[in-house]
Amino acid sequence: MTRLATLPVPTEKIANRLAEAISDSDELGWPTVATTEQKDGSWTVEIYHEDALDEAALGALTEAVLGPDAPAFIFTELPDENWVAKSLEGLKPVRAGRFLVHGSHDRDKAGIADIAIEIEAGLAFGTGHHGTTAGCLLAIDALGKARRYARILDLGTGTGVLAIAMAKAWKRKVLATDIDPVAVAVAHENARLNGVGPLVETAVAAGFGHPVFTARAPFDLVVANILAGPLVALSAPLARRLAPRATVVLSGLLTEQGPRVVAAYRRQGLRLARADARDGWLTLVLEKGR
Ligand SMILES: C[S@@+](CC[C@H](N)C(=O)[O-])C[C@H]1O[C@@H](n2cnc3c(N)ncnc32)[C@H](O)[C@@H]1O
Repeated sequence: MTRLATLPVPTEKIANRLAEAISDSDELGWPTVATTEQKDGSWTVEIYHEDALDEAALGALTEAVLGPDAPAFIFTELPDENWVAKSLEGLKPVRAGRFLVHGSHDRDKAGIADIAIEIEAGLAFGTGHHGTTAGCLLAIDALGKARRYARILDLGTGTGVLAIAMAKAWKRKVLATDIDPVAVAVAHENARLNGVGPLVETAVAAGFGHPVFTARAPFDLVVANILAGPLVALSAPLARRLAPRATVVLSGLLTEQGPRVVAAYRRQGLRLARADARDGWLTLVLEKGR
């Protein structure tokens, strides 16, 4: 039986912060979390879970984001259906530059000039609706207009959305890796469904812990939409695998975490070329010198 826990919150920013904290929580077992705008402009945070949630841990996380007077989540039981997919199937297609990320029900929405990426809601992160994914897609679109990249890495690929975008736009090979074997299987299947299976090579790897990196590095473009902590931790091994004049796109960090992440990469010889803020999330474009 799938259960749903719902909490109304005043703004999208708060909804995103709380959703991120919950979906990253070890204590809650990384449940599936969605944020939904209501007709009156307020937002709700929804947690879909099979096993009982640790309500004390959830209360503590909610208080950390909303303050001590935070209301409690309301728990309901859902009839047996694929509610994760259902909750997302109504989502509209997302446009980011030339890319249009859509579910199968919106296949007909792609125009002739769009680079359409079909991603079904499922078990991995990356339907294009999150500010970090959209920020990366916009950065990829802009970068491709200025330069052709040959050795490309999508680190933390999730659904594979960014790897598929680069493979489709540039007809280039992309290495797509993720710490989560389920995400890697999803990315592999999505690449095939989007007609770029032969261009997207997938591997399960925590950071750079896989021999495939030795074979494919040095990279001239690395896109990593993870979180601020892992991005800082990965700064040295990532920089070691860059070609001269490489570009790095980083996302998954909150606006206030930008200076810490930029400082870590500056120590590795990269300079900040652009920073784009969307929905409280930052996407950074960094460049390595010769
Ligand atoms: C925010 S999602 C990004 C998904 C997709 N790239 C996008 O932009 O929508 C982050 C992904 O990074 C993966 N991840 C987290 N830490 C990682 C690590 N140390 N090494 C590789 N992947 C990691 C997660 O499993 C998750 O699929």
